[in-house]
Amino acid sequence: MIDAISDYLARNNANTGGAYHTSRKTDLMLLEARSAMGDFLNCAADEIVFGANMTTLTFAMSRALGRELGPGDEIVLTLLDHDANFSPWKALEEKGVVIRTVKFNENDCTLDMDDLAEKIGRRTRVVAVGYASNAVGTINNVGEVVRLARQAGALSYIDAVHYAPHGPIDVHALDCDFLACSTYKFFGPHMGVLYGKREHLKKLRPYKVRPLTDDIPNCWEWGTLNHECIAGITACVDYWAELGRRAKPTVATRRAAILAAHEAIHEHERAMMEKMIAGFLAIPGLKLYGISDPRRFEHRCATFVVRIKGHTPLELATKLGERGFFTWDGNYYALNLAEQLDVERLGGFLRIGLVHYNTMQEVERLLRTLAEIAG
Ligand SMILES: Cc1ncc(COP(=O)(O)O)c(C=O)c1O
Repeated sequence: MIDAISDYLARNNANTGGAYHTSRKTDLMLLEARSAMGDFLNCAADEIVFGANMTTLTFAMSRALGRELGPGDEIVLTLLDHDANFSPWKALEEKGVVIRTVKFNENDCTLDMDDLAEKIGRRTRVVAVGYASNAVGTINNVGEVVRLARQAGALSYIDAVHYAPHGPIDVHALDCDFLACSTYKFFGPHMGVLYGKREHLKKLRPYKVRPLTDDIPNCWEWGTLNHECIAGITACVDYWAELGRRAKPTVATRRAAILAAHEAIHEHERAMMEKMIAGFLAIPGLKLYGISDPRRFEHRCATFVVRIKGHTPLELATKLGERGFFTWDGNYYALNLAEQLDVERLGGFLRIGLVHYNTMQEVERLLRTLAEIAG
């Protein structure tokens, strides 16, 4: 990915649509990146929109969707979500749109699906929900959320930023209307990607400059994009495919290779998660938030938030940082969650996240270090 970015800058750096070699190469590179992301999400290349990050793309889409909404129209949001899938929709209150928020169960930090079903009604126009929580690691039943939204005639908008490094995404099977993710979360460059069903990208009206084409997906991408990072996106998807081919050499297509990578990653992360959670529960004074029962591990990913009696999250993160463990403290923008669990005023949580390049030895070392610090 790093090589692809520098190679683009060194050899093909240009703007799009020009009648010369490097511009044509740039046009081609963009097509390749869209098709790579199409394989990653299982959609067509022209349903892929690139942008600065998920937050920016979501503000853009909420503004465009907001043009079609008026007083009394409702949007359903959840208190489990990252604020990037909350505030862009809440901003539409200015137009008289009514925001209905779905609770989560405090004992295991799972979405309250009964509350969700009840909040979706005749006036619901959009249901925005996260695929996985970037704080407590809960994986939501987004398939069911999409189904409930569709049944009510509402659009579904999925924030898959946190889920993307941990599980396979199939927008076609999900039948969601929109899904946003960020390539930097799955080992690519700092960029955002939005999938939109072709019919919506065509029908909705983006705010844009006049000379920009009306063709999708370009009409949703304003100004000059970050071409070098987009060149990195293709390489990032190819990295996934390469992982998959190593795990399952018989795979025939890039999509199949990506799915094989996810299978291998799932197994590895699951084993680390079991060790990590068992280790957490043995540390005196440690409180783990979210699912802790191994029988329900299919509903969480290897992202953990904890608090330890007598230590602030910042103290813990600092001490871990000094020992070479890079963790987070605070709310990581899962503000509603931190407020509802009443930890916002106490420095939030300590968050520890695992991905596929972590090892069992690192998990053991982290648990030993955390026990020492807590001691
Ligand atoms: C679940 C979730 N949604 C949205 C975002 C925002 O993504 P971006 O930084 O691409 O705007 C994040 C970033 O941490 C996230 O974890």
